[in-house]
Amino acid sequence: MQQTTPSLTIPPTSVAVLGNYVNTTAGNDDARRRLLLRIALIATVFFALFLASCSSDLPQSSLNPRSAEAESIDKLWDFILILGTVVFAIVAGALAYAIIRFRKRPGNEAEPKQVHGNTKLEIGWTLIPVVLLVIIAVPTLTTLFDLRSPAEGNFVRVDVIGHQWWWEFQYPDFVDENGRPLTTANEMHIPAGKTAELTMTSVDVIHSFWVPSLAGKRDVVPGRDTVMKITPDADIAGQMVPGQCAEYCGLAHADMRFRVFVDSETDFETWAAGQLEAAPIPASGDAAAGYETFTQFCTTCHQAKVVATDGTVEVIGAALGPDLTHFGGRTSIAAGLEENTAEHLAAWIDDPSSVKPMSPELNDIEAGRIMGMPAYGLDEQQIQELVALLETWK
Ligand code: CUA
Repeated sequence: MQQTTPSLTIPPTSVAVLGNYVNTTAGNDDARRRLLLRIALIATVFFALFLASCSSDLPQSSLNPRSAEAESIDKLWDFILILGTVVFAIVAGALAYAIIRFRKRPGNEAEPKQVHGNTKLEIGWTLIPVVLLVIIAVPTLTTLFDLRSPAEGNFVRVDVIGHQWWWEFQYPDFVDENGRPLTTANEMHIPAGKTAELTMTSVDVIHSFWVPSLAGKRDVVPGRDTVMKITPDADIAGQMVPGQCAEYCGLAHADMRFRVFVDSETDFETWAAGQLEAAPIPASGDAAAGYETFTQFCTTCHQAKVVATDGTVEVIGAALGPDLTHFGGRTSIAAGLEENTAEHLAAWIDDPSSVKPMSPELNDIEAGRIMGMPAYGLDEQQIQELVALLETWK
């Protein structure tokens, strides 16, 4: 059987076509001008697109690094881009030179001299790429090992747990009086200028944790711990940096987002202390009625640490969905999908799957498997009461 080897070189036809074009247009100023114009136009469009990709106000861009780790990745990328551009310019320049300089000219019908098998050239274009790859490999491996090395000194530990389709964050160094770690969802707080070491795993399928401005991507795999370090720049304290799941994980994968809040050291301590507090069980009003609904429906999947008016603290509900103790203090709902407003929350409670495509019909509470929040068919009044409750739980 005869096999055709796929060619890695420039297809000869395109070279021939360009050669012919230059050839037939030689001496024809009009056609030549049109050709130049067309080339200039294509170059302009290409250049505009290139510049647009460098825009600095894109919130999810690795080209806008805001942490020590993201900066080391960005530096590596710059180095490889410059090196690649130089190689491209040399190769493309030589190719263009050869096409134009040695094109077929009118009146010259002679066959060009046939040559092949130049040993010096063969060795040259084997060795040069090897050297280039070594030059790329050294800083690449150094950066990789640096990123993978364990955090040192004084750092904050965060356990990241991927769920279909939301993120759970636990802080094992911040525990309450009963040893329960600080637990929150979809919004991670870390201090500026200090390293956070994320130990990540998943309870269901493979996800990928990605905050482009703060760190590279790392898979979040069930039954395994993967580690990632983030040391946000000291001068971005007070900023929010968005991230998202980067591994296809089912229906709502694209809406499995999260927000990273980079706090000043004091703001972070204040936030963490607040998160360990219990949410008050309201004594009267809409919120109190909402609490009845909450314990009837929501606690099937959601947990909350609550304190009664007599001071009794208890943790209610099942830890299958996001912990709602401080829900009202979060800026977003539905895993970073929408801003946390009363209207958005009411629409979400009314029919979650209309806001974010999920598969609650596949939920198996007994087995602890959750594929989305179901619509419970609550009436307008109940929804408003529930919203009133949740928005007061700051
Ligand atoms: Cu989780 Cu995609």
